[in-house]
Amino acid sequence: MKRFITAGAVIAAAISGATADLCSQGSTEDNGNWYCQEVTGITYTGVGGTGSYNKVTKMDSSSGTCSSSAFSYSGSLSPLDEEVSLHFRGPLTLKQFAAYTPSSSSSSSKKARRSAHERRHAHAHGHAHFHAHNKEVRDAQKRAVGDWVTATIDGQVVSWANEWSGVSTAAAASTTAAATTAAAATSSAADLVNVKIAAVQKASSSSSAAASSAAASSKTSSASSSSSTGGWTRNAYYDSESQTADGVVFLNHNGGSGSGTFDYVFGNSLSYASSDGTEGASSPQVLADTQLDSNVEVVIMSDNECGDDDCGYVRPDTVAYHGFDGSVKAFFFEFGMPSDGNTDSATNGDMPAIWLLNAQIPRTLQYGQSDCSCWTSGCGEFDIFEVLAPGDKRCKSTLHGNISGGDSDYFARPTSGTIKAALVMDSNNIHIKVLDDSFDFSSGVSASDIEDICTSTTTQSDSVSIFALS
Ligand SMILES: *[C@@H]1O[C@H](CO)[C@@H](O)[C@H](O)[C@H]1NC(C)=O
Repeated sequence: MKRFITAGAVIAAAISGATADLCSQGSTEDNGNWYCQEVTGITYTGVGGTGSYNKVTKMDSSSGTCSSSAFSYSGSLSPLDEEVSLHFRGPLTLKQFAAYTPSSSSSSSKKARRSAHERRHAHAHGHAHFHAHNKEVRDAQKRAVGDWVTATIDGQVVSWANEWSGVSTAAAASTTAAATTAAAATSSAADLVNVKIAAVQKASSSSSAAASSAAASSKTSSASSSSSTGGWTRNAYYDSESQTADGVVFLNHNGGSGSGTFDYVFGNSLSYASSDGTEGASSPQVLADTQLDSNVEVVIMSDNECGDDDCGYVRPDTVAYHGFDGSVKAFFFEFGMPSDGNTDSATNGDMPAIWLLNAQIPRTLQYGQSDCSCWTSGCGEFDIFEVLAPGDKRCKSTLHGNISGGDSDYFARPTSGTIKAALVMDSNNIHIKVLDDSFDFSSGVSASDIEDICTSTTTQSDSVSIFALS
């Protein structure tokens, strides 16, 4: 318990303090792109908000027109709290991929962030699927452990995983001075949350000495509490070597060959990807343990097929799957981006990338007429590792949407061998972190793993950049 209360204070304090990229240490411009320092961690703050974008409501290939209607969103990660799809462009070797959500996502906060319309039309089936088929999630929800709790405290959005299991413990009461003895009598998760909020308020409003002592106690307590309850649920996992593919489907843009559709107005829809990623296929294939060449793109979505209007509008006859939903979610990657010597920037030669899109974009039209996807009106894209010029050895990150911006600090492109990396989409913040090669995300990650990723990328240093978007 203590860990999460004080960690919340630490995160809030760090963000309100040094929030800067590392461009004051030097920057260079290459063909309009700025590069500052090489880092191993980046946090984006101010990612989400309130706004609207145009949801496609009809694609008419006979008239060549697309219609849409305005859709309003609101939430600290919005609109990227909606379903997202993951995109991989060569030259790239994808060794492992995993998608996680907190073991019990906080359904009350989701409801608060979304209209009833949105829940009905875009999310109901996704939730029903996970609820129905994942016993671990169902059990977790009963006891509410692992709920991601978010609160705005003194202007800072703070979140933590709820470890409250319904059993009152001494630890719950003896957290900080602000966690009063009332906590000892606490018998509900809601009360405990109030205690946590009080504790954070206390830490952030008291003197800097008190705040730093809270930070110090956080460090010691998190070091000493190695066992973590509140693990995260793995919703999807791919391992190229063993050809394991759980909860994922591999798609690409070859509709009309084997699956999906093609017409001369809108072009190719999504299709199942052939195992080498280069062609369409008539049924789901596992991506081979292979290198995707320049400009070959593979899309990963969940293995939960859209049905009965539960993905909202999709292009008629396209292959369509649900993306990865959640107001808090994490993705893990093991990948390499070898150089293949292609110098043609017009065809993305030697410009590998890993990015995510609002999953509605590929399900209508990712490449083509701009009014046929919600991209132009800002439903969201986040570039995680993107090489911007042929052969370049730097990977940049960028958010595209109503709120847009990209850090000029960059990650080293893994041209030889592979690296492991995490993307944690925490309420209001996006964290990217290059992980140690020994980090194992093949079976599970704990709440403390996630917390470590968030905390270590929220403290600016020579290798950590913090980029405030709004
Ligand atoms: C863009 O963001 C601003 C500031 O949060 C908001 O007021 C505005 O409505 C948004 N516009 C759209 C089109 O989402």
